[in-house]
Amino acid sequence: MKKFIVIIILISAIVGFAVFLNSNGKEIIYSENTAKEKIKLPEPNTTGGMPLMDALKNRKSSRKFSNKELSEQMLSDLLWAAFGINRPETGMRTAPTANNTQAMDIYVIMKNGSYIYNAKENSLDLISEEDLREYAGTQDFVKVAPVNLIYVSDYSRFKEGSNKELYSGAHAGFIGQNVYLFCTSAGLNTVIRAWLDKEELKKKLKLKEEQHIVLGQTVGFPE
Ligand SMILES: Cc1cc2nc3c(=O)[nH]c(=O)nc-3n(C[C@H](O)[C@H](O)[C@H](O)COP(=O)(O)O)c2cc1C
Repeated sequence: MKKFIVIIILISAIVGFAVFLNSNGKEIIYSENTAKEKIKLPEPNTTGGMPLMDALKNRKSSRKFSNKELSEQMLSDLLWAAFGINRPETGMRTAPTANNTQAMDIYVIMKNGSYIYNAKENSLDLISEEDLREYAGTQDFVKVAPVNLIYVSDYSRFKEGSNKELYSGAHAGFIGQNVYLFCTSAGLNTVIRAWLDKEELKKKLKLKEEQHIVLGQTVGFPE
């Protein structure tokens, strides 16, 4: 009986200490809606969609967004269309890049954290657990929409003598248009954006000196 009481006291002490640590330390228990180290995306759907000419006919910028979240399937399809690998045998991508530098990364800013799109693993890799949407642009809809894509060019991947600024703008343009066409086909709204505080966002996304924010693009369901 004595032994039993001692065991109970010991268990209570351990549980109490764990609760104390948790209430004083960093949040350690993740619920479904919090950031994850890595989100393994489902395989993208790479067939079907709206006929190309219809998508071109309907492509437009929209600035009204509902706060409804995109499913992981939709995120996977969107990011594959944007800049996924469409030739697995060579690792080449859905958007062209100068000398196939693939010098662009897509950062994905969402309510439940900010991630970098890892095209090889078809995953989202955590950058920050914070909701950084307020830093993703200066227009109000940016904070409401579920997804803001940030196109970040890594100048260290370019060959010496490349026109890095020109190429980065072109790369963001190709990726941005892929996103426009995908969104038109999928019934999503989108707008590409230059209005963002690049310095502040660069810090929040923990970018290196050679990484340059080129443009942002907001994506979400119509309001
Ligand atoms: C490089 C670039 C930067 C842009 N920046 C912004 C922006 O910061 N905010 C915004 O609301 N729209 C922005 N736009 C969207 C344009 O305003 C829009 O494309 C233009 O009005 C034509 O409309 P459409 O896309 O519906 O054809 C930008 C477009 C481009 C190409």
